[in-house]
Amino acid sequence: MMPDALLELSAVRKTFPGGVIGLDSIDLDIAQGEFLSLLGPSGCGKTTTLRVIAGFEAPTSGTLRLDGQDITGLRPYDRPVNTVFQDYALFPHMNVAENVDFGLSLRKLPAGERKKRVADALDLVGLADKIGARVLELSGGQRQRVALARAIVCEPRVLLLDEPLSALDAHLREQMQMELKSLQARLGTTFVMVTHDQTEALSISDRIVVMHKGRIEQAATPAELYDRPATKFVAGFIGTMNLLPARFLGREWNALRFESDGLRFGIAAEDHPAMEAGAATTVGIRPEDFIIVPDGTPDSFAAEVSSVVFHGKALRVHARAGAETKIVVDLPRQGEGRECRQGIILNIGLRSGASCPLLPA
Ligand SMILES: Nc1ncnc2c1ncn2[C@@H]1O[C@H](COP(=O)(O)OP(=O)(O)OP(=O)(O)O)[C@@H](O)[C@H]1O
Ligand SMILES: [Mg+2]
Repeated sequence: MMPDALLELSAVRKTFPGGVIGLDSIDLDIAQGEFLSLLGPSGCGKTTTLRVIAGFEAPTSGTLRLDGQDITGLRPYDRPVNTVFQDYALFPHMNVAENVDFGLSLRKLPAGERKKRVADALDLVGLADKIGARVLELSGGQRQRVALARAIVCEPRVLLLDEPLSALDAHLREQMQMELKSLQARLGTTFVMVTHDQTEALSISDRIVVMHKGRIEQAATPAELYDRPATKFVAGFIGTMNLLPARFLGREWNALRFESDGLRFGIAAEDHPAMEAGAATTVGIRPEDFIIVPDGTPDSFAAEVSSVVFHGKALRVHARAGAETKIVVDLPRQGEGRECRQGIILNIGLRSGASCPLLPA
């Protein structure tokens, strides 16, 4: 358990009628002020986790604590938690101010205070000038901001966001990501956001929880997830990773040497525990960590290019090596990639110092 956990989920399970397992024993501590994302493929339990935290869904077993107090049985409106829904769920017949005021009106606060808080919340999301506008007159991005203002006006301890930006086009989405991040930093409120966009999660989260089939695969910072994925699922889900089934040959100087499908290569030994010679493992290698080296370089191998795809600054090269190994290699478009085309043979090595995770076989 983390010392300053604001919200603690302990052994939370959710089984739906008919026996569908939504959540399979979730243990998760969320820190005060953290921007946490829940990331994973469709059906992995992201929304269910959010709904359990919000109180819309009761866990089948397990407990939720907020500031150390058991809130498992509290009704949604008795929890200091607000939700921003994917479709915003704004009231079309109310104007912007009325929408934002809605949560406050339920709390029976004095009119003067409500008015000030609505104005402050709209100011925070940059919509002060739209206070009297009708919801139907607003753009998608503006509606998103109204939904945010409506959620933060109640000053929740935890703000839950379910795919809050998925209805926006790519450009606006990127802009809103940065706005969301800076809003969260200014408020200091704990944000828990569901997304299935890994780029979004990687760019704005303090920590990401990767979920798979109702379980947590790994909870870590974006850099940790990228550099040290704990499972093959995470390695395959975050960015692109070559996963080579390999046999450990032995240690030479500061390199661990492996063989995979007749290909031999060495990776930096640091960070990796000792292994027995002959042990089976999976070596994860990022496309950018493969490089072209001169023929005859030790620990290099030949690969035949099967396709070359434009990837902005890099070319993404798909190639075949050994008897049946397919690898993905990123080469700088202006450098090594310049001559690259289908059918040619490249001599491939590993960038020295590349951080290559070793995963279960
Ligand atoms: N009310 C329900 N009744 C029965 N099964 C449900 C219910 N809600 C969710 N499930 C099931 O629980 C699992 C997790 O669903 P959940 O909605 O949490 O997934 P998700 O990660 O949010 O997926 P998506 O990315 O598609 O929104 C799925 O198998 C889903 O079919
Ligand atoms: Mg969902």
